[in-house]
Amino acid sequence: MATSEIKQLVLRQPDDWHVHLRDGAMLGAVANHTARQFARAIVMPNLSPPVTSVAAAAAYRDRIIAAVDPAYNFTPLMTAYLTDSSDGAELARGHAEGVFTAAKLYPANATTNSSHGVTRIQALYPALEAMQKAGMPLLVHGEVTDRDIDIFDREAVFIDRVLAPLLKDFPGLKTVFEHITTAEAVAFVQTAGANIAATVTPHHLALNRNAMFDGGIRPHAYCLPVIKRERHRLALRGAAVSGSPKFFLGTDSAPHAAPTKEAACGCAGIYNAPYALESYAKTFAEEGALDKLEGFASEYGPRFYGLPLNAGTVTLDRIDTLVPADLPAAGTTIVPFHAGETLAWRFSRASGGQT
Ligand code: DOR
Ligand code: ZN
Repeated sequence: MATSEIKQLVLRQPDDWHVHLRDGAMLGAVANHTARQFARAIVMPNLSPPVTSVAAAAAYRDRIIAAVDPAYNFTPLMTAYLTDSSDGAELARGHAEGVFTAAKLYPANATTNSSHGVTRIQALYPALEAMQKAGMPLLVHGEVTDRDIDIFDREAVFIDRVLAPLLKDFPGLKTVFEHITTAEAVAFVQTAGANIAATVTPHHLALNRNAMFDGGIRPHAYCLPVIKRERHRLALRGAAVSGSPKFFLGTDSAPHAAPTKEAACGCAGIYNAPYALESYAKTFAEEGALDKLEGFASEYGPRFYGLPLNAGTVTLDRIDTLVPADLPAAGTTIVPFHAGETLAWRFSRASGGQT
C-alpha cells in the first residue's frame, strides 16, 4: 500500500530507550507524556545530585511511579550515573536486584548535569569489568569535551579516541551509543559486533543544523550532541528505516523551562515526549517505510536489552494534529518539539498488557 493510503497504524506498544524525566514538580509535569505513549522507558540519571547508588535509583523509581497516572501501566527502567569512583560491586548488585537496568557514561561536562561525569575512562575500567561480567549494558553519551575540538566534530572524535579503544578492551560489553548524530556513528555501529547498538532521536531525524539558525537563533532546536549537517541527518534516517536491529527508538526528550532555553546561555535539550510517536511516524512515512516503524520502536530495543516485547498495542491515526506553541509545566512553560506545526498523525490509544 502506498504510504499516503495508510490511514491507521496499529503497533506493538513501543518503549523509549532514552528519556529525561527530571524530578519534583517537573517530573510531575512531564512523566505522563512519556507514560501515555510508551510501556517502558530508560530513565536518565543526570539529576542534581546524580543517581549513583542503588538506594537513590530505587527512591527515584518510586517518585516516578507516584507521578504517573496508574491507568498507564508504565515501568521506568533505572540507570546508574557513572563517575570516576563508581564501584563495580554496587553496579552489579543494583543490576542483580533489578534496580539498575543499565549504567550511563557521561564524559565530565559534556552536557546538562554532567559535572560529576567521568574524567578519565581508565578510572572506570574496574566498573566496566563488573558490568561486562554481569551483562549490564553501558549507555554512552558519545562526545569528547576537549574545547579544542570543534563542537560539530566531538562525536566523530569520541569514536576514535574513546569508544573504539574501549570496546577493544571490553569486547563483551553490551553498549548503546546514545542519540547518535553523525554518519560516522552510523557506520561505526553498523560494522561493530552484535553487542553494539544505537538510539536515534526524533529531532536528529527531522532537523539539520540550519534549524538552529533559521532567520535568527533558535534555542528550541539546541540539544547535545548538537544537530549536524544534512548528510548526517540523511545517514541517520537511512539507519532508522533500514530494518537493522542495531538502531532503535530513544527520544532523548529533555524538558527545560522556556526561559532557561531562551537565554543568553540557553540549556541544551529538546522536549519531544508529548508527540514522540507522531514525529517518528512522520519521518518513517516520508521515507516510505512505515512498515519498518514497529521494529524500530517496539522490537529491537527490548531484544537488545534481553527484555520481553510488550503485548499491548498503540494506535496512530492519520489525523492532522496541531502541536501547541507551549505547554504549561511546573509553574512555567515548555516549548515542545514541533511547536506550532501540524503533524499528520495522532496517537489515540494504548491497549493491552505490558508484556
Ligand atoms: O540536549 C541534551 N539535554 N543532551 C543531553 O545529553 C542532556 C539533556 C538534558 O538533560 O537536558
Ligand atoms: Zn539524554
